[in-house]
Amino acid sequence: MTQIPREFIQQLLDRTDIVDFIDARIPLRKKTGSNFFACCPFHNEKSPSFSVSQTKQFFYCFGCGAHGNAIDFLMQHDHLNFPEAVEALARYAGMEVPRNHQHKEKPTPQPSLYDLLEKISQFYQQELRQKPEAITYLKKRGITGEIAKTFGIGYVPKSWDHVLQRFGKQAKEKQQLLETGMLIKKDDGGFYDRFRERIMFPIHDKRGRVIGFGGRILETGEPKYLNSPETPVFQKGHELYGLFHALRANRELTRVMIVEGYMDVIALFQHGITYAVATLGTATTAHHLQRLFRHTTEIIYCFDGDTAGKTAAWRALQVTLPLMKDGIQIRFMFLPDGEDPDSMVRKEGKDAFEKRMQQAISLSDFFFQTLAQQAELNTLDGRARFAKMASEQMEKLPDGFFKNMMQEELAKKSRVTVQPQTTIKKFSNKPTIKKTRPPSPLRAAIMLLVQHPELGKLITSPLPPLEMNGFALLNALLELTQQHSLTTGTLLEYWRDREEAQLLSKFAQMEHMIPEKGIKSEFLGAIQHLKKSANDQSIERLLAKAARETLSDEEKKHLNTLIHTKRTTTTPEHPL
Ligand code: UTP
Ligand code: MN
Repeated sequence: MTQIPREFIQQLLDRTDIVDFIDARIPLRKKTGSNFFACCPFHNEKSPSFSVSQTKQFFYCFGCGAHGNAIDFLMQHDHLNFPEAVEALARYAGMEVPRNHQHKEKPTPQPSLYDLLEKISQFYQQELRQKPEAITYLKKRGITGEIAKTFGIGYVPKSWDHVLQRFGKQAKEKQQLLETGMLIKKDDGGFYDRFRERIMFPIHDKRGRVIGFGGRILETGEPKYLNSPETPVFQKGHELYGLFHALRANRELTRVMIVEGYMDVIALFQHGITYAVATLGTATTAHHLQRLFRHTTEIIYCFDGDTAGKTAAWRALQVTLPLMKDGIQIRFMFLPDGEDPDSMVRKEGKDAFEKRMQQAISLSDFFFQTLAQQAELNTLDGRARFAKMASEQMEKLPDGFFKNMMQEELAKKSRVTVQPQTTIKKFSNKPTIKKTRPPSPLRAAIMLLVQHPELGKLITSPLPPLEMNGFALLNALLELTQQHSLTTGTLLEYWRDREEAQLLSKFAQMEHMIPEKGIKSEFLGAIQHLKKSANDQSIERLLAKAARETLSDEEKKHLNTLIHTKRTTTTPEHPL
């Protein structure tokens, strides 16, 4: 694993002016203050709502909610992953990305695991040529020699030590085979092959390297498929079978279909549907989806039409909701009973299959249909239940047009005449923050600090401990902004992939209406307020303790000081 040092990322962001950088791709117009505007590259629009702030080094679209720093812009605009975006930005800035070579002490260098798996895959393919029964089986299932070659399909004969004999003579080699999951260790310390007498499907990563195998039994038997275990090079929750082939076969992936099995991907590919991928014996994860969204904006889930299929589809929907950014299209396709994509496409061919795909149900329709089945929409109670269930689920959606549309749809369907924004609040049992509510001092402090990181340097002593949600976050922000000179863009970089990232970027975009001149005093006022709350909390804690037991002299003194402080400090009116 190589990792890009954080300092480099900060230097890179400091060196790049986000305005120049974006302007080179989308011409920006100067509008107000330090903000530049353009029509948003992330959604269709006629009047510009995409803004880039020079001071914050941050972009934000008032239409679709897209936002971030220069790295985020590249990730979203050019569909790059994080290291790729850093690489591209470094090229633009004329800097070279240094690499931390971590885990140096690991005995096995990773590339050799890939090499080993590639050799084994070649070996399995040779074996297939020597086994007429296996060839007959594949032929019977309609697989041509050409497609078998494309997907590297092989065979492993009935033997306990076929791979062990060929690749595991030395102890070190055995260790490597064990690490790739090709061997299993016996209690007595010996080893044997994991895969025996199976058709072997190599699993490739995005770049085409073999990272594992799926093995299917010839004819019938248990288990039907045996897969490589999780290994240093194979993580089931991340990898998708067929993605490498789909990327190679299509210059641009306009859509991706997610199916269940190896044979489904292969049969579809053979019939010209070269954009199917399969999860590997696991349910679809957010990682899978994020990986796909780097390459496509449309995903079609294909499931069996039975109850199990519907249940699996609902589970997939749940995973998808938080990722429903504007511009993404998700549909669900249900096959007739007893069919899978493999049997279906062989039966009716590409065109008919794609026609089915056109008729696949949209995520929003599937969402409301499924919920409607669980509530009686012709009664008031039923509609309230429906609205409650729906709005709870919809809280997972990111802000944007899609969410608004879903809320409008819900209001229509549950015949509750309320504003889309308030629908959620009305039925949700979790308190959510209303846009109009004045922010609490804590929220104000965090928001101002995110938008004006230089404020952190005004606070010279640590804040007294306060038990309050978000207080730890404020402290982390203070510490960071006191140590570094940051912009909003570079500050958010520290939170990439962390839980609070989304919350912080919300704060980064918040409109606060505080005039430039008032920002400093507003911030100091909020901090003062928090100090007072901390003071009050400590007093309460000590008084509660005093009611139970006698306070120590130390505690009594402390309580006196606290009470004195409370009397002498006047609380600033919180003007927000
Ligand atoms: P299915 O049982 O639907 O099989 O499993 P299939 O893909 O239609 O296979 P064929 O057509 O009979 O050859 C779907 C997927 O679930 C995983 C495999 O990834 C398989 O492709 N699976 C299934 C396992 O991992 N182990 C099993 O024992 C069965
Ligand atoms: Mn099948």
